[in-house]
Amino acid sequence: MIYFDSAATTLQKPPEVVRASVYAMTHMASPGRGGHRPAMLAAETAFSCRQAAARLFHVEDPEQVVFTFNATHALNIAIKSLVSPGDTVLISGYEHNAVTRPLHALGATVRVFTGPLFDQEALLRSFEEQLDSQVRAVICTHVSNVFGYVLPVEEIAARCRAQGVPLILDASQSAGCLPVDVQALDASFVAMPGHKGLYGPQGTGLLLCRSDTKTLLEGGTGSASARQEMPDFLPDRLEAGTHNIPGVAGLLAGIRYVQREGSAQILRRERRLVQLTARGLSRIPGVTVYAAQDPTLQAGVLSFRTNGADCEEIGERLGRRGIAVRAGLHCAPLAHQSADTFQTGTVRVSFSGLNTPGEVEKFVRELKPILSSFSAPGK
Ligand code: ALA
Repeated sequence: MIYFDSAATTLQKPPEVVRASVYAMTHMASPGRGGHRPAMLAAETAFSCRQAAARLFHVEDPEQVVFTFNATHALNIAIKSLVSPGDTVLISGYEHNAVTRPLHALGATVRVFTGPLFDQEALLRSFEEQLDSQVRAVICTHVSNVFGYVLPVEEIAARCRAQGVPLILDASQSAGCLPVDVQALDASFVAMPGHKGLYGPQGTGLLLCRSDTKTLLEGGTGSASARQEMPDFLPDRLEAGTHNIPGVAGLLAGIRYVQREGSAQILRRERRLVQLTARGLSRIPGVTVYAAQDPTLQAGVLSFRTNGADCEEIGERLGRRGIAVRAGLHCAPLAHQSADTFQTGTVRVSFSGLNTPGEVEKFVRELKPILSSFSAPGK
């Protein structure tokens, strides 16, 4: 199969990720729950994973690296730590439902800064117009999960810093390929999945914490057990219950893989695939491709749609031919509103560093007859 759905989950994992998860499942127990060897091995693995993530993302202390189930879980902790009902929050127009739904549930007053796709200047103008003393927090995705649009997060972070407004960065699509420097950004929280650009297993995520936190879950932590309050120190405060150690072990192997390959090299490969795809698709009549003129404004994700063919139907037909893409609204209706694709949705192709130019050529070849079948008389 050709797998172009890495913005959802990377399916092709480096073999060492699988080996590490299997080893953990058969040799490790729970960190902090015993002095025996399987518990100690689990504790060492968890700490090594925190250390590796702290190094990659420039976190001051490995204990500020908190394990979560996914980026949604991490974003929920971050949002509920900073935002109270009725607070005003400023978010980008390219956010995922993982940001907008918790804010909706909290009853926050949401302001949106936005602009046309790949127009960073317009986005920053909109941001500046709306950043005032009422804003309790800013939430911004680094890269749109629908369009691969790289948002100007360094500039946004600098303005937040100048105004003393906490920033939550959603690094779901950037962790592992773009630089994410938590200290340079001075972000309060950075949320990311383990199962996308870090090549870890599903059920893993990270929250990098640089602010006070509120707990989402309370329970056993293997520490301060005599007390009924949750510990006030990280990571225990946010990690109630047994850890997903097979996931953490796989994630550690994935982070080491990213460090060995180099994020910049992975990004170069993905951008080349985006450009090849955009070139191939733009030669097909009736196809609108959402590709940035300036390649530095786009990571390894690209959307397209066509005149007259239903996006979900295209996705299904590609799936029947062994090509995995994602079509529709991608859990990001706000991003589709900003890009004016809300009515139709788009077909999204998204790459990992393990995809190849040959796969792109085959995908474009296979797509052509599918699209012609929609325009054929009687179809
Ligand atoms: N947020 C993931 C996606 O874009 C699941 O597909």
